[in-house]
Amino acid sequence: MFTPHSLGAAFINGTWESFPDLPRLSVDNPFNSSVLGAVPNCDSKITERAIEVSANAFRSWQATTVLERSTLLKRAASLLREHEAALASLLTLEQGKPISQAKGEIQYGASYFEWFAEETRRTYGDVIPSPSPGRRIMVLKEPIGVCAAITPWNFPHAMIARKAAAALAAGCTIIVKPASETPFSALAIAKVCELAGLPPGVINIVTGDPEPIAKALMASSTVRKLTFTGSTGVGKLLMRQSADTLKRLTLELGGNAPFIVFADADLDLAAKDFLHAKYRNAGQTCICANRVLLHSAIADQFIDKIASLSEQLKVGDGSLSGTDIGPLISSDAKEKVWGLLNDAISKGARIRSGKLENSSDLLMKPVIIDKVTKEMRLWEEEIFGPVAACAEFQSDEEAIKLANDSQHGLAAYLFTRDLSLAHRAAERLEYGMVGINSSSISLAEAPFGGVKQSGFGREGSRYGIEEYLSIKYVSINLN
Ligand code: SIN
Repeated sequence: MFTPHSLGAAFINGTWESFPDLPRLSVDNPFNSSVLGAVPNCDSKITERAIEVSANAFRSWQATTVLERSTLLKRAASLLREHEAALASLLTLEQGKPISQAKGEIQYGASYFEWFAEETRRTYGDVIPSPSPGRRIMVLKEPIGVCAAITPWNFPHAMIARKAAAALAAGCTIIVKPASETPFSALAIAKVCELAGLPPGVINIVTGDPEPIAKALMASSTVRKLTFTGSTGVGKLLMRQSADTLKRLTLELGGNAPFIVFADADLDLAAKDFLHAKYRNAGQTCICANRVLLHSAIADQFIDKIASLSEQLKVGDGSLSGTDIGPLISSDAKEKVWGLLNDAISKGARIRSGKLENSSDLLMKPVIIDKVTKEMRLWEEEIFGPVAACAEFQSDEEAIKLANDSQHGLAAYLFTRDLSLAHRAAERLEYGMVGINSSSISLAEAPFGGVKQSGFGREGSRYGIEEYLSIKYVSINLN
């Protein structure tokens, strides 16, 4: 049921449509480049049809009770958990991440379905005290309408779960355009929603090249909201394209996370957390540690620790248990990482662990460099690979200044035993999320999102459902 072969069709209006007359997009395993299968390369006409069926489905879906929606979403959450093994294998095949992390991602996705199944029952409005007699002021929360989600390849399951579950819980319908590299995990979510009993047209998956699909979604005045996770460049383009129809937007864009280790930090704890912050998904997450900022008193000792831990990591086929780092997603992605690394070396960065040895496949062993400066491209650009870029600071003040020296503001991490420093630093960091003495910050209960050029809007948490609700004010004259 959850194999590339059984999922090679778009999902529109509750029907699996293989569109035999359309060209097909092939999907590869990034570990060995073998072809896993193919999906239809849907065009703008098909996207317009998906919008139309979403609009029809919205009429009845918005009228369902919160309890009905909650029950269906909870059922989807338990089906995701029940099929964890098959869904995770599929995810690893098309995306490459280690199977243990893929299992974690399925659980993470299920937690969003469960969370929003609960939150739908708490979408309270308000009654506002009136300044004049005989008037009542009521505030109602209503679903926005048809939503579009454009989702990335790095978390092909969880990024859809966190958007779609919130939208559906709010009473919206949704059209998902998954990344071309990883459509099967998206289609697998549709399969789960079908099994859970979600009505036709409530969730639709349109596979294919991004441009015609995104253009049709952006041009449509029926689509009232866009939620996007991806690069800052594409986010800006979509924002421009949505101007004519004034869509509501949630944009979760690029990051440039500082990983700050202060002089008094527990270095063993910080080193262990560094592994998660840097190498999760081979370094391909928006919240990965991009710049490792170390107090000069502990810098050498810390780098020695992370070097010895990094050298023990197993790089290889994500499908094998025991693999810590799978392949990068594509040769373009790998070229970009090597470009950033070589740029840094040419400008004076020093290799502390790993080698400047590129292989012909998409695997990449960890490389740790130090003496990183602002002149290097990776100071601002997302590395998206297993390269740790270390720089030193002399004072707490300088650490904050260096950390904030970025156009981006998604996640930041800091390690210290000083409670007062931890609070002061967290308050001054210009980031949407701050992890203190831990890099495990992602969870359904917490608001995920950034500031500055990392975008706006929040996913997950009680704030996440608000992104799919609009406020209606009702004034009642009782006189
Ligand atoms: C991302 O890379 O955008 C998502 C990471 C997460 O949810 O932990």
